[in-house]
This record gives sequence, structure tokens and C-alpha cells, in this order.
Amino acid sequence: MDDFETSLLDETPLQSRHSEPDATPAAKRVFIKTFGCQMNVYDSERMSEALQAEGYVETSDASEADLAILNTCHIREKAAEKVYSDLGRLRDIKRDRAKGGKDTLITVAGCVAQAEGEEIVRRAPAVDLVLGSQSYHRLPELLARLRNGESALVETAFPDEDKFQALPDREPAKAASAFLTVQEGCDKFCTFCVVPYTRGMEYSRPVSSLVEEARRLVARGVREVTLLGQNVNGYHGDGPDGRATTLAGLVRHLAAIDGLDRIRYMTSHPRDMSDDLIAAHRDEEKLMPYLHLPFQAGSDRVLAAMNRKHTGADYMRLIERIREARPDIALSTDIIVGFPGETDEDFEATLTLVKEVGFAHAYSFKYSPRPGTPASKMEGQVAEGVKRERLERLQAVIDEGHSRFNRATVGRTLPVLFEKTGRRDGQLVGRSPYLQLVHADAQPDLIGRIIDVEIQAAGANSLSGVIRGSK
Ligand code: 5AD
Ligand code: SF4
Repeated sequence: MDDFETSLLDETPLQSRHSEPDATPAAKRVFIKTFGCQMNVYDSERMSEALQAEGYVETSDASEADLAILNTCHIREKAAEKVYSDLGRLRDIKRDRAKGGKDTLITVAGCVAQAEGEEIVRRAPAVDLVLGSQSYHRLPELLARLRNGESALVETAFPDEDKFQALPDREPAKAASAFLTVQEGCDKFCTFCVVPYTRGMEYSRPVSSLVEEARRLVARGVREVTLLGQNVNGYHGDGPDGRATTLAGLVRHLAAIDGLDRIRYMTSHPRDMSDDLIAAHRDEEKLMPYLHLPFQAGSDRVLAAMNRKHTGADYMRLIERIREARPDIALSTDIIVGFPGETDEDFEATLTLVKEVGFAHAYSFKYSPRPGTPASKMEGQVAEGVKRERLERLQAVIDEGHSRFNRATVGRTLPVLFEKTGRRDGQLVGRSPYLQLVHADAQPDLIGRIIDVEIQAAGANSLSGVIRGSK
């Protein structure tokens, strides 16, 4: 599917997600930096929880970390290369701390770890542990082996046991909205994509364990879950009756949880957009009217070379059916420019499709050849300057659609789930059903609640409005 990786690709600074006051002065500290998609965000949270059980507290300052973890992304070259520049900085920190008699364990986790394995230790000998994305639950045991004198451990197998089951229960939620990984891996083999090689074949978690995890989140204040998977609408986990359940079936099971008010999912593949999932967008009130559905390119020739197995017309027909079921749905997508062999005419077909659909939001990328993928060996690689120019033109069209969508909500009253305080005093920030950021003046006790907000203005990236009521 398409991914997921989309959205968070803009990396976080070399700071971890949060820093917390020390529980005890002697606590060990872990620094975690997450690259890439929301699935990595979820995995980082689960690793952090496993380490808290071992007495670690999180720090946002790499120079005070006893354990530094880079949770990496391999989807494009730039993301993968950043890991090595960060490793250079961590190596210096490790050396400086060693002068003060302090050890620093450096771990590379995630998709670069999975894809490059031993190569990482060769290129960056300061690394102590390379941890593939299926082995996070083994982190405490592997750290113990490092403390006992082993070095340069590389764990990138796809083990038999289920990492989700083996990880400890989730800690109290800190937010009103949480991610829940329901599916991993992809066997679609789009010719540009490393995911089938790094994350392996599709695997879906069983319904019962997801319902249990969602219940625990809700008991701790979560009102919204986003179901994650590289190919989330290909979900086929075992249901309570032992039979495979579709994503629509999973959504129905989750929607039955009292106190869980909003359900989202990403990322989907057009070929797995089944009738029952489309119907769920019509019938299931808790399923939010937002769909991230990558189409990658508008030209049928390019789509065929990408092994997407759909045409531009297939995609348009699908969008029509989804809009029949849920007319107000906000659509989002991923697009690649400069795939090998892409001509000006092919690129025009992409622009046309973007204009025809009218996306609320879109992620766009210059094609980046990835080692081991079929497209990286194709003839007709497109020059960097051409890619750059196409990306700029595409982004202008995307931005226009984004503003149009946001402006169209001005004057409407939308239920907003408030998530945190805003930058300005007395201001809260939340999300509309269409995933738009909404600012409003409100008391902090409204965090975690869904409140009607009349939208009064649309900025470049967010909306602002006034409170009208609560639910
Ligand atoms: N080059 C550029 N973009 C890519 N994506 C995946 N692989 C590549 C690549 N080699 C994009 C796709 C996908 C998103 C997560 O990243 O658009 O949907
Ligand atoms: Fe998505 Fe295709 Fe990559 Fe699978 S192979 S994760 S469908 S882009």
C-alpha cells in the first residue's frame, strides 16, 4: 500500500519527542529520535514503554543519554542518509561522555536497520545495536547482552513470535488521539518502493488484541484512534469467530467501544478499497470523513511501470463511488514526480488528475531510486532539475486545492477534538473531522473533549474559530 510513510516524513529535530522530569536522579536516560511515518511514531512509543519498565526515563537531550535510539526510515535516500549524519553526532557524544566515565549505547532501529543490517556497523562502528522492526520486544534482553560485554549486535530476523503481544501493556495515554498499528508489511511490490523488502509480507493483528488495546487507550482518556498500516485497507486479521475480518469489520468492532468517538485509518491502496469499507464511510458515524488514498501518478503508462495495477480512470471511478457514499469526505494522496521514463505529457496527466479530484491535502515527492527496487534499474532516470521543476509546479496546484478546501469550511460549525494548548495564551488546538488543525480560545479543561466550533478564518495550514457548544 501505499503508504503511510507519507506524512511525517519531515523529520523531527535532533531532539526526542518529550522530556520528562527525572523519576529518580539515578534513572537511566533514553533518547529516541523518530524518522518517517506514523508507524515509526507508534513503534517509538512502544519501545519507550518497554524501556520505562526497565527503569529508563526519556530525555530530549542526546548528550545526557545512556541509550540513544534512532528509529529510522528508508523510503527515500534523503531520509536514510540523515541517519548517518546523526550517527556521526552521536559518535562524538559517546566519545565525550566516555571521557567523563559514562557509557552510551547507540541503537539503530527501524527500516534502515532492517534494510542495511551489518552494513550500518561497518559504516558507523560506534553503533552497538542494529534492531530490525520486528524485534523491538527483545530490546531489554539485547541491552543486557551489551552490558555483559557483547558488542555490535545485529537483530534483523523476522521472528515467529508476535512483537505486539510480547511488548508490555501500554502506559497511560498522554493525548486525546492515539495511533494503533493494526497491520504491517506490504506485498504489493510497487517498483519504486522498499517497504516490501524492509517491512516484509503483510501481517494483520487479530481483532481481539486490537479491541483490547483500544479499550485500554480509551480508559486512559483517548477519544480518537488512527489505525495504521502500510496497507491498512488490506487488513485481514482474525476475528472473534476465527475468520478473517476486513478493515470495515474491525472498524465496526472498535466503533462499539463506548467513549471511543473517532476512528481514522491510513494508508490505503486503491485496489483494496472494498465495497464494505466504502459502505462503512456511509454508515459508521465514528469513521471520520477523511481518506488518504495514494495514486502516485496520473499517466497510465507510468502507473503500469510502477506496478500499481490501477489506471487513472480506475482511480477517478473509485473516488466517485466514495463520494457517493460520503459526499463531504476530505481526500488526501501521495504523488511521485520524475519516475523513470516520465515525460512532460505523463506529468501533465498527474496535474490533471490532481485538479479533477480536488484533494484537501497531498504529499508529493521527487522519485528517489532505492537499492534493490526494480525502478532503480530502469532506463530513463529523470534529471534532478526536471524533477525539482515538476515538484514545484505540482505543489503549487496542491496548495491551491488545500486552501480552497480550507476556505470552504469557513462559516461552518464543526466538531473539534481539542488535543493541546496553542502557542498563544488561552488558546487550544484540535482537529476537525477532516483532520484540519483548528485554533480557538478555550479553557484547558476542554482538552480531550469534542466541542462545536464555528470556523471564522482559514490560514495556510490551520483554521480558527469560536466555541459554540460541546458534546
Ligand atoms: N521515491 C519517492 N517517493 C517514494 N515513495 C515511496 N517510495 C518512494 C521513492 N522511491 C512515496 C510514495 C509513498 C510515500 C509514502 O512515499 O508516494 O506513497
Ligand atoms: Fe505502498 Fe506500494 Fe510501497 Fe506497498 S509497495 S508500501 S503499496 S508504495
